[in-house]
Amino acid sequence: MAQEVFPNQDRIIALLNQILADEFVLYTKTLNAHWNCTGSNFFSVHKLLDEQYNELQAVIDELAERVRANNGVAHGSVRGFADASRVPDAQGVVSTQDLLQDHESLIARLREDIRVAGDECGDAATEDLLVSVLNKHLTMAWMLRSLK
Ligand SMILES: [Fe+2]
Repeated sequence: MAQEVFPNQDRIIALLNQILADEFVLYTKTLNAHWNCTGSNFFSVHKLLDEQYNELQAVIDELAERVRANNGVAHGSVRGFADASRVPDAQGVVSTQDLLQDHESLIARLREDIRVAGDECGDAATEDLLVSVLNKHLTMAWMLRSLK
């Protein structure tokens, strides 16, 4: 049976690959912060960031596999991710404040991406997936914001 093709499918594939790049850079920065964190609350921050990078890895995998489910090619090169990402690449050691800022800017972009997927592309499945990604970022940002 032929693969389903819907209007705006190419646009959805590009959108998913864009977010994949954003998430990959944020994942790498979360690893950086996990490895390099210091301070009196070291253990709890180190552990929290471990949970967060694992959560981001699951998001990355889900986005890439959704590209494939849409009959697209999932991007998968480090340089390609860094070049395409709307999250700036790490400059030296990454702090939890840097991560918080990245989550907050991604949250704002995801809200617009959700609108594009739903209203402009008419793709409820991608809209729903992106809402679940947004919810994960809201929780991760809250936890980072609460570290003192
Ligand atoms: Fe670790």
